[in-house]
Amino acid sequence: MLAIAILAAGKGTRMKSDLPKVLHSLAGKSLIDRVLSCTQRLNPNRRLIVVGHQANVVKDSLKNYQDLDFVLQQPQNGTGHAIQQLGTQLKGFKGELLVLNGDVPLLKEETLNSLLKFHKKSNASVTFLSASLESPTGYGRVITNESGLVSEIIEERDCTNEQRKNKLINAGIYCFNWQQLSDVLNLLSSKNSQNELYLTDTIKLLKKALHFEVDDPFEVKGINDRYQLSECEQHIQETLKSFWMSKGVSFIDPISCSLSEDSDFGTDVIIEPQTHLRGKCNIGNGCRLGPGSVITNSTLEKNVLAIHSFINEATIGNNTSIGPFAHIRPESSISENSKIGNFVEIKKSFIGEGTKINHLSYVGDSTLGKNINVGAGTITANFDGKNKHRTIIDDYSKTGANSVLVAPIKIGSHVTIGAGSTISKDIPDQSLVVERSKAIIRKKNN
Ligand code: UD1
Ligand code: CA
Repeated sequence: MLAIAILAAGKGTRMKSDLPKVLHSLAGKSLIDRVLSCTQRLNPNRRLIVVGHQANVVKDSLKNYQDLDFVLQQPQNGTGHAIQQLGTQLKGFKGELLVLNGDVPLLKEETLNSLLKFHKKSNASVTFLSASLESPTGYGRVITNESGLVSEIIEERDCTNEQRKNKLINAGIYCFNWQQLSDVLNLLSSKNSQNELYLTDTIKLLKKALHFEVDDPFEVKGINDRYQLSECEQHIQETLKSFWMSKGVSFIDPISCSLSEDSDFGTDVIIEPQTHLRGKCNIGNGCRLGPGSVITNSTLEKNVLAIHSFINEATIGNNTSIGPFAHIRPESSISENSKIGNFVEIKKSFIGEGTKINHLSYVGDSTLGKNINVGAGTITANFDGKNKHRTIIDDYSKTGANSVLVAPIKIGSHVTIGAGSTISKDIPDQSLVVERSKAIIRKKNN
């Protein structure tokens, strides 16, 4: 049997934030989400989250997980005190308890698997992840004896100057034999510099304590402050960009760009400076993104250009060009060979093949057919103050500059609308329409 407990009750004082530490995010995912995702496939029998500081906010952020049990730690008297709170939930439980710090987000599932295997094989009371760090400041130091067993973990603040030189640190990820742990949990004392009950003090109370050193120390980096948060972000970004470079994506200025882990790229994609991909994006072969574009949860088919534009929850077809300075908003689908140009906003609309909306337009709640030319400054007036209405324009129509289409409205195919018209009734196919007051021209008196 395997139970997993994630410690997420602490305030995270060093973050200097109103947000609980475990809800800060890295490449768009919260720290606690990251910790949870590396336990997904271990098939645990239980997953328990210890919450305390802003418990409801943390709980609320995890409402999409079905299997979690929350345990309240109030007040937060340290990591040992946090684990003491599991007593009721794990009464009678026999097996392993895997304890994860909610603030160690880069951990890999394979590492946890290896830890579990090693722990079971060696029949230890506890095995925890350790790392050798060039700068171990801030971490608990691991003290081993001649036979290789761990005799204790001493927190940095409680170390002597000599002990502080030890570079072997505790990563805060433990696999305990639950029965043996529960026998010693009540023996913890708070005689230390923070007057807290330390989970690390159980090590010296347990029969057989082992550590399992990780190969890549970055994997167990704990986040206590914003600097460490930015170091982890940088690490994720560098890893992602070098991976995609190896798959045929070019970055003109990689440092100024950021990616999400859930984005996927074809080959010969060129990412220009200051371009950011967020959420789940699918970018096809030959796309050229940026400079200055932000693309979120969107699919771009092949050879799409997106210059200085925002594209959010949209699909863009082959060979379409977006921007500069376009804003494509959710639920929009732009078909192939189209052009969405300067200062154009599209919302919740379907744009057919080969249609051009080149300058200064707003198109919302609309369905546009193919090969339409939307003149500069054309606006769909979709909102009557209460409700949104749809605009339909059929194939091969043209709207003149500064047309206003008052929705709900249907413009047929092959229609031409004269510049400056405000159209509020449906227009049949093959019509020419202009709605404009007559110009009055007089000779001036003076
Ligand atoms: C802890 C370890 C340290 C280790 C480091 C690794 C202890 C005493 N020290 O130190 O040996 O090197 O992690 O990153 O465990 N938490 C609670 N309840 C509490 C206090 C903390 O749930 O009462 C949670 C926090 O939300 C956090 C985690 O436990 O997710 C770790 O707490 P933190 O205060 O950051 O411990 P460290 O000082 O980093
Ligand atoms: Ca920490």
